[in-house]
Amino acid sequence: MGHLERLKGRKAIVTGAAQGLGEALLERIAKEGADAIGWDINYERMESTTRRIAELTGRKVLPAKVDVTDAEAVRKAVDEAVEQLGGLDLMICNAGILISGDSITFDINDWRKVIEVDLVGYFICAREAIRVMLPNKYGVVIQINSKSGKRGSYKNTAYAASKFGGIGVTQSLALEFAEQGIRVNAVCPGNLLDSPLWVNSLFKQYARNQGLTEEEIRQKYIQQVPMKRPCTYEDVANVVVFLASDEASYMTGQAINVTGGQEMH
Ligand SMILES: NC(=O)c1ccc[n+]([C@@H]2O[C@H](COP(=O)([O-])OP(=O)(O)OC[C@H]3O[C@@H](n4cnc5c(N)ncnc54)[C@H](O)[C@@H]3O)[C@@H](O)[C@H]2O)c1
Repeated sequence: MGHLERLKGRKAIVTGAAQGLGEALLERIAKEGADAIGWDINYERMESTTRRIAELTGRKVLPAKVDVTDAEAVRKAVDEAVEQLGGLDLMICNAGILISGDSITFDINDWRKVIEVDLVGYFICAREAIRVMLPNKYGVVIQINSKSGKRGSYKNTAYAASKFGGIGVTQSLALEFAEQGIRVNAVCPGNLLDSPLWVNSLFKQYARNQGLTEEEIRQKYIQQVPMKRPCTYEDVANVVVFLASDEASYMTGQAINVTGGQEMH
């Protein structure tokens, strides 16, 4: 399969793993030798995704229906994952939503919803994972953040606020648990222009917000990247695998850009 099994024997959860980047990350960590549970609110899709990946990789890859904003459900699902996998040493917090819009008319319930899923949901999942990692004094938490966690994003106040906040959570958890063998880092991808998020939703939202066609939006977002190409799942997965592995054992509290040079801070 061309992978080095750098995560052999790891026991992992990936949130928001039914489709998109989460699905790609679940597949990659299984190819790298991890057993994993994929969480999503879309259980039907999560089930077919895990079945496909389990058949492809021969690893234990199981689905669970979990809403990352439901603290009680997350606590239970972490305990179940520990039973099913025999432990937990990798938590990939990927579940996220994006609702963009003009700030004057932005529905405040939508604004709160983005914060609830992308920020509060991240904190809930991270702390429940750390709770079960602590007795072993070993574990890795990785948040899928965004370049919008480093720099404001046009007509995207809720998303940028949630992602900036996520870096605060990452750094603070890293400090709190550094002496106990838990590493907490974030990865900040650029625009995954071929992901369902863009194809099914963002091209339409941005075309409307910016008064351009969907094709013009695609070209505009490519032109903003010094390397002049979109971000791919593989670009992100390569960094996630590195951060999850012991090669990154001296790294915690970091938010690593994977943006083709678009973000440098
Ligand atoms: N697509 C991009 O260009 C891009 C760029 C940078 C960062 N990201 C980040 O990557 C992550 C994944 O994005 P994606 O593009 O794959 O999105 P996506 O919408 O394709 O997938 C997100 C998944 O999360 C699930 N989900 C949503 N709310 C949930 C909840 N409350 N509990 C559990 N699962 C939930 C959805 O059902 C879906 O399967 C997000 O955190 C996003 O902010 C994406």
